[in-house]
Amino acid sequence: MKVLLAIVLSGILFLNCSCNPEKKNDAVDQVPAFPDYTESLKKPEVKVDLSFSGQDCASCHASDTKMTGPSFSEISKKYPLSKENIEALAIKIKNGGSGVWGNVPMPPHPSITEEQAKEMAEKIIGYKK
Ligand code: HEC
Repeated sequence: MKVLLAIVLSGILFLNCSCNPEKKNDAVDQVPAFPDYTESLKKPEVKVDLSFSGQDCASCHASDTKMTGPSFSEISKKYPLSKENIEALAIKIKNGGSGVWGNVPMPPHPSITEEQAKEMAEKIIGYKK
């Protein structure tokens, strides 16, 4: 009888343990391929910083007004949020180019890493206004 009780008790303990919600946090430690800003961008109270400090973007791009380059707001309207568009704009940020918005070229940014460029592209595309 005592043995049976012990088995039942340990069974309950085991179930408790495997249902522990803290266990689920293991997945959070895995770093995604690139950060997902999509959720935070949907919240209006989260102010997205598009000044990209340390970079020269702000000398040609503003959030809502056209300067030498198109505004980030215009760019975000042109490109729906998708992996393909993020990658295409990331390449443009790194390599530069012209012809999409006019004849003025966008200069290349070879020192920006692919990850950084994707992060910037995702923030720009996600900036719907
Ligand atoms: C010297 C001015 C200049 C600077 C500096 C600059 N851009 Fe641009 N950018 C442009 C111009 C001009 C275009 C339009 C290019 C075209 O028509 O293809 C452009 C286009 C873009 C586009 C849209 C590309 C497309 O194909 O639709 C993105 C995104 C962008 N810039 C991001 C950035 C980011 C991020 C930085 C900073 C790392 C930056 N730009 C720095 C001038 C600039």
